[in-house]
Amino acid sequence: MRFDIITVLPGLLESPFAHSILLRAQKKGISEIYVHNLRDYATNKQKSVDDYPYGGGSGMVMSIAPFAACIEKLKSEREYDEVIFMTPDGETLNQPIANQLSTKKNIIILCGHYKGIDQRIRDVYVTREISIGDYVLSGGELPAAVLVDAVVRLIPGVLNDETSALSDSFQDGLLDAPIYTRPVDWNGHKVPDVLLSGHAAEIEKWRFEQAVERTKTRRPDLLD
Ligand code: ADE
Repeated sequence: MRFDIITVLPGLLESPFAHSILLRAQKKGISEIYVHNLRDYATNKQKSVDDYPYGGGSGMVMSIAPFAACIEKLKSEREYDEVIFMTPDGETLNQPIANQLSTKKNIIILCGHYKGIDQRIRDVYVTREISIGDYVLSGGELPAAVLVDAVVRLIPGVLNDETSALSDSFQDGLLDAPIYTRPVDWNGHKVPDVLLSGHAAEIEKWRFEQAVERTKTRRPDLLD
């Protein structure tokens, strides 16, 4: 799976993909992540990528031309399944969306800044708008990194233990049960007996009950 991320701040995306599972996915050839500097596609002398908003108001608007040039170049090289714009106006990212996107081959991600991007880029190129939550960040780079992480770990072969993504919180619509490792007793705080019992069916039953209980108290909306 290939991601092409278009941004004015490529430096912000140098590190998130260079560690752990995301790095391993790239080393295995399962995912490719390319970061494009929008400024390289600016056509005027000043290399500007934004301009004043028509109708007035505060803040600058990201211009059409650099985005269009970068997207057109990428599209002339291969077909894309989605052009995603990271924006607080979008549908909120969740596990079903991550699952859907993990089946795609090529995805372009646009990162906005300032007041946003010219609406015509959204109208003409963008196929999907995604938010990572109801709060406003300074730009779309961190949201893009969150999206790529959520999606890449779901691609078959990325996680060593294939069942591990399947047992993630949310994958079955429930939060995770509590987990423990050594020591058995830490200052009087003990690991629940059932986890030490070696009784697989009992442990599975306990985990399911705990997951349901935790979901009921913390995220009842997931049970609706
Ligand atoms: N850009 C700024 N804030 C954002 C958010 N919450 N989600 C996605 N993109 C954003």
